[in-house]
Amino acid sequence: MSKKVSHFVGILFLFQKKGLFKMIKKIQFFDTTLRDGEQTIGVNFSIEEKIAIAQQLEKWGIDVIEAGFPIASKGDFQAVQAVASSIKKARVTALARANKKDIDACVQATAPAIHKQIHIFIATSPIHRQSKLHMTKKEVLEKIKGSIEYAHHFFEIIEFSPEDATRTERTFLVQAIETAITAGASVINIPDTVGYTNPAEFADLFTYLRKNIPTFDEVIFSVHCHDDLGMAVANSLASIENGATRIEGTINGIGERAGNAALEEIAAALYVRKDYYHATDNINLKDTQATSEMISRYSKMPLPKNKAVVGNNAFAHESGIHQDGMLKNPQTYEILRPETVGGKSTRLPLGKLSGSHAVMEKLKEMGYPFDHESMKIIFPIFKERADKKALIDEKDLQVIMQQISEVKR
Ligand code: KIV
Ligand code: ZN
Repeated sequence: MSKKVSHFVGILFLFQKKGLFKMIKKIQFFDTTLRDGEQTIGVNFSIEEKIAIAQQLEKWGIDVIEAGFPIASKGDFQAVQAVASSIKKARVTALARANKKDIDACVQATAPAIHKQIHIFIATSPIHRQSKLHMTKKEVLEKIKGSIEYAHHFFEIIEFSPEDATRTERTFLVQAIETAITAGASVINIPDTVGYTNPAEFADLFTYLRKNIPTFDEVIFSVHCHDDLGMAVANSLASIENGATRIEGTINGIGERAGNAALEEIAAALYVRKDYYHATDNINLKDTQATSEMISRYSKMPLPKNKAVVGNNAFAHESGIHQDGMLKNPQTYEILRPETVGGKSTRLPLGKLSGSHAVMEKLKEMGYPFDHESMKIIFPIFKERADKKALIDEKDLQVIMQQISEVKR
């Protein structure tokens, strides 16, 4: 991109931020369930499971699948190869540290892929440079340059991650990114490796990068957020507002420590709030529940009932006021319909907080003749029973109706 075009894109972006006009952005989804997701304690996918997961991710509409870290083990190498052989549409990537051995392993493991890239990382923050790598800034920059130039012999698309970017001095972060771009990286991923940042600070970091990297618009900016403080999804969304067009994460948010940004939540947020984010993507939302269930099963990690978008209670309403609203108009308490994400239908479980409207609806559904007068008798009995039992099911209602008919006789 010429300097003039890049300047023009920058102005468009500024106008967009100020709300002067709305440009639709296309967001790429990068899934690392098979790599960072497998770093979850106790998770170990078999090769067959990895192939099935990759195929399901492709069906869900993922643009880039990170299949593994080939240098880590023979099993990881073989898994990357197997995924690379079985995926047709999505781009397959593998992870490498900034050295030739790691890159060579990625070259071999991703060889069968129709579309491929490599993901090279090195830590840039002072704590990682000093305590982990024992490297000076200059040495880190040399590693970035050397590894990306080497990888360029084998890969057209090189993604570079300055690990622990959010705890890196901003001036050095810019230096590291510019070195990577000059060496041939076309995707720059900003990892919030330890889930340290927050949405406002992350947005500000992007504003800083945009201002200080003249070639910002010539590459893809991506983010990779961890959930240590529960802000991975919010941080990812903040980056979309500020120039990121690729989002990395995992299904169900699994991953190292508290996990990664949950991709199904980001996809749902972009869909529900398209009025706000003005973004499109390739995700087939209808396959969300099936994808989430597969990861939950293979990772042996049952979902919390209140998990956003895919949890068992995500579309269940118990309080009387909410149930009444839902029966009158589902939009009163649902911003996303379960069918949209391939979930089962809305549930109105009956408990002590339920109102007579929901109880009547349930009785009608069970085939009992509906009558407002009889509700005056049924409802107090229902309430008495619900005070003793958390959830009133169909069997309980049958017993109540039986009791009433016996009294009537
Ligand atoms: O969290 C992280 O920084 C990573 C990198 C390898 C991108 O997983
Ligand atoms: Zn990570």
